[in-house]
Amino acid sequence: MYYKIWYLAIFLIIFINTNLVAETNGAKKYNEFIQRELDMDKSDTPKNILVGSIIGGGRHLSPMLEICKILVDRGYNVTLVAPGNFTATSTLYHSIPQIITDIRKDDYVSLEMRKTLFEEYDIKNWAIRMRMINHKYKYTKYFNDYLQAYKEIKPDLFFCDYIANEPCFDLAWKLKKPVVGFTSGTTYFTHPPPIRSDPRMGRGCHVSMENESFYNRFICAVVQPLRVIWAFRDNLNDINALRAEVGISKYYDYRGRTNTLFLLDNFFGFEIPSAWPPLIQEIGPILSDTFPNLSSDLDLFLSTHPRTMYISLGTNLFTTPENYAIILQSALELINRNILDGVIWATVRFNVSELPTTIAISNGDIVSTLNIINNLHPHLYITNHGGVGSGQESMYTATPMLVLPIALDQPGNAERLELTGMALKLSKLDLKVVDIISKVVRLLNEESFKMNAKRMQVLAKFNSKRKYRGADLIEIMLNLAKYDGSRNENGELEVDIETLLRSWITPNSRMGFIRGNYLDVFGAAFIIALTLIISFGYGFYKIIRFVFKRWSLRSRNPRESSLKHKNE
Ligand SMILES: *[C@@H]1O[C@H](CO)[C@@H](O)[C@H](O)[C@H]1NC(C)=O
Ligand SMILES: *[C@@H]1O[C@H](CO)[C@@H](O)[C@H](O)[C@H]1NC(C)=O
Ligand SMILES: *[C@@H]1O[C@H](CO)[C@@H](O)[C@H](O)[C@H]1NC(C)=O
Ligand SMILES: *[C@@H]1O[C@H](CO)[C@@H](O)[C@H](O)[C@H]1NC(C)=O
Ligand SMILES: *[C@@H]1O[C@H](CO)[C@@H](O)[C@H](O)[C@H]1NC(C)=O
Repeated sequence: MYYKIWYLAIFLIIFINTNLVAETNGAKKYNEFIQRELDMDKSDTPKNILVGSIIGGGRHLSPMLEICKILVDRGYNVTLVAPGNFTATSTLYHSIPQIITDIRKDDYVSLEMRKTLFEEYDIKNWAIRMRMINHKYKYTKYFNDYLQAYKEIKPDLFFCDYIANEPCFDLAWKLKKPVVGFTSGTTYFTHPPPIRSDPRMGRGCHVSMENESFYNRFICAVVQPLRVIWAFRDNLNDINALRAEVGISKYYDYRGRTNTLFLLDNFFGFEIPSAWPPLIQEIGPILSDTFPNLSSDLDLFLSTHPRTMYISLGTNLFTTPENYAIILQSALELINRNILDGVIWATVRFNVSELPTTIAISNGDIVSTLNIINNLHPHLYITNHGGVGSGQESMYTATPMLVLPIALDQPGNAERLELTGMALKLSKLDLKVVDIISKVVRLLNEESFKMNAKRMQVLAKFNSKRKYRGADLIEIMLNLAKYDGSRNENGELEVDIETLLRSWITPNSRMGFIRGNYLDVFGAAFIIALTLIISFGYGFYKIIRFVFKRWSLRSRNPRESSLKHKNE
């Protein structure tokens, strides 16, 4: 007992003494703080980045280039490889050099593509559309374009847009270069937890399956995903055949190489909350810090029309001439009934010759369509600019929305927006003037839309700072590559991408399906539990049976047992 106290005493003394020493040292240097080293020594960090996209267009390129602008400020060299003359003609990204791969022909639209947009959008339309976007020749063309660009600029990292962009990921893997993917949606390329689905998976499938019936949950979690794999088999076969031609081994996942680090331009609150694999890093919403000022025309229009509705139907998708006529008529009715003062329509994609020449409104006025298009209507303003990421901008500015989903991720995003409580949605297959008017009136008059829009604004504003995190993640990859790579005979740094990604790849993915999901352990636990329950149950049954037999024996022969008692 004694020695224990001694031990404690010695320990205390030592402890106090060392503390005193520390205290006196600290007092001496009280005012001297040393700056924590904030930056990596980047002198020998690889710095060339190739940004690749097949789709091009503002919606894909703007957020990617927003991250690249941060990287350029940090001393990296960025080159864009994409169709269209994008950076030279853009106000925000003209400092980033571009290798133009293709001239975008926006007005060419095949009949088949029109059908996928005009009909109910489902798995089959989706597969057809993806096959057309990733049209046969494109894989080989883009693979060679990226390869040519690689030879010219010797990038150390590929930053690839996700949609239809297999050649970008394939080339990076073949050349053993670090690669980071970029996307705004998840349902297409992650196997989502079954609680999350998507309307394009079929009727009854929604972004959140929270309140759906057993039948819908079964169909959307089990049946439709199998149909997706079936519907995309042609796409996969096309691409695998083309891969073989350029020396890339076949890859049997219709979603592409999803075992890559992805930057996800999205945020919870808009996206249904659920756990992503660490390989998917949320960094959205990405918005530019500056934006072009209004033209003086538009400025004048807005100052004379305080209650203005802004219509933006996206740059790539469009709807039927009938729907365009309905939207135009609704705009005129809303102005006529003094519900709104004005309407601005951006990025017009309709073909004027397919619209009715005049539109009749309820007060008896007949309005000429051509006059509207030529901006001769005093309260309707048509402009061909704007309309990139309008959903995110609306959340950022807390503006309630009326949404008309057409295809791809739009039906899902429309549901997400409606679930936030700041938007109402329309149906492209059943568009009606009265419906549009009543929904606009609700959006303007019901306080809840404004409050929910403000709530989303909080999430959007704080999360919009995460584009710097996106740039950080690309820098992390480049810095890690220094330590994981080895030099080939040409002195170029090569990495094993899977090794490079080991900080984000969950161990269960290496353990196989059964061990990875702990099915062996839980299976064994289940069998043990079942065995115990059965043996207890059997024992209990035996006891009950024994007791019952005794009891029934007694009640059948009461005399016998009373005799027995007497004998005793
Ligand atoms: C970045 O680009 C500039 C101009 O094209 C070039 O002078 C410089 O050497 C490049 N830096 C690297 C690290 O390749
Ligand atoms: C791209 O746009 C810029 C600026 O408008 C122009 O100077 C240049 O010639 C264009 N390049 C091509 C290939 O069209
Ligand atoms: C499901 O219903 C609950 C209770 O009415 C509601 O709170 C929740 O928001 C609903 N979820 C969806 C996705 O509609
Ligand atoms: C934006 O443009 C309008 C006229 O179009 C002008 O009055 C205003 O001062 C400009 N704003 C800024 C910040 O330059
Ligand atoms: C516009 O529609 C007319 C009539 O349907 C058609 O002839 C013309 O080719 C279309 N133009 C474009 C650019 O699609």
